[in-house]
Amino acid sequence: MPGSIVLCVCGGGSGAHALAGLATQKGVEVRILTLFEDEAKKWNRVLQKEELTVVINENNRPPREVTSKPKMVTKDPEEAIPESDVIIFTVPASVHEIYFKAIAEHVGKRTLIVGLPGQAGFEFQCRDLLGEKASLISMMSFESLPWECRVKEFGKRVEIFGTKMYLSGSLIRGKSVTKPPLMTLQKFLGFQPILRQSKHFLETIIMSYSFVHPVIFYGKWKDWDGKAVAEAPLFYHGIDEATAELLQKCSDECTAVASAILEAAPTKANMSDVKDIHHWYMENYKNEIAETGDLFHSITTNKAYEGLTHPMTESSGGMKPDFNTRYLTEDIPMGMVVFRGLADVLGVPVPITDMIIEWGQEKMGKEYLVGGKLNGKDIEFTRCPQKYGFSTLDAILTGEKST
Ligand code: NAI
Repeated sequence: MPGSIVLCVCGGGSGAHALAGLATQKGVEVRILTLFEDEAKKWNRVLQKEELTVVINENNRPPREVTSKPKMVTKDPEEAIPESDVIIFTVPASVHEIYFKAIAEHVGKRTLIVGLPGQAGFEFQCRDLLGEKASLISMMSFESLPWECRVKEFGKRVEIFGTKMYLSGSLIRGKSVTKPPLMTLQKFLGFQPILRQSKHFLETIIMSYSFVHPVIFYGKWKDWDGKAVAEAPLFYHGIDEATAELLQKCSDECTAVASAILEAAPTKANMSDVKDIHHWYMENYKNEIAETGDLFHSITTNKAYEGLTHPMTESSGGMKPDFNTRYLTEDIPMGMVVFRGLADVLGVPVPITDMIIEWGQEKMGKEYLVGGKLNGKDIEFTRCPQKYGFSTLDAILTGEKST
């Protein structure tokens, strides 16, 4: 029964507001844990006087509002975590470590911990920071947030602009019994998105296509002369054929790694849902794409991408690309580098992935790949499996560190 479930939402941003509002409205006891600055204090001040409203925009229907009052907002893990059946991280992946460390000692063994989104390496980090408890709890990592959403008034109002039709997540079941993962989460969200369980957590890492944003950035700015431009170029609709080819090559590298996993562990890691990126687009955006013939047109005629531009910063005389965007700062260390680590373990060369990481790290002033090896000084800020001592496929699959 939803009423008997305790959910702890970790975070204080747009996704946390939307999730807290929707789940509370379904009768779930929602506790919000936010460790960021004075967010808990600010949200509490609002919560004492106001309810939390979620404005939901759905296709071709007038917006509707749901209003509810989450049970608690706190900065104290000891207050929020004990008795929580489900803990959902709804923060950027770079912040997960702070939350794992803060909650570790309070997590019960029958807990379900969810990354919404989880992003690549969520499971490695969870296993590392929860220690022995990690084999008891269950974990799920979803490919994205269920909604496009923005906080309108902090603690009081959040707007959902769009809800995904489907959302896939991987599940690693622990030894202890938890609430039924998918069914419980579906209750929090309502009918949409329809949650699906992917076949294997490595499949989710590969299928996160974390190369898409960095490759599009590379395609646009690799020959940039450093001068300000008059306006932000279109992001997806502005790609050229060469960028589409690079995207395809990165996708081929993903498929090669998936095949190598399957070959090395045919009965332990089901990779049967790993898809070529063009097929993924056709399946996920079939109603939005005008010309599906090839990858280039599947992106440039995709209605869902209309008007989306490159992240830019203001500069005297115009605008410059923002190399500090999450498209690079999250997708490279919490995506491409994790995939690169996996490729290393399997012995599969991924030269295009390497080229994009090397370009991106230089733009961000970071160092992950040096001389073709993952031993740059910033590797500690990534979630590549080797960082946690998972250096063989067996260690990655079982969670038992390589000796
Ligand atoms: P947000 O930008 O609204 O949330 C940021 C929150 O993260 C802050 O309010 C704070 O609670 C926490 N945070 C940030 N820096 C921190 C730090 N140094 N220490 C502790 N906490 C910190 O993010 P949002 O929109 O809630 O998104 C969450 C994740 O979902 C992100 O990875 C985002 O890329 C992804 N996402 C968001 C979508 C959206 O429409 N909002 C759509 C698809 C994905």
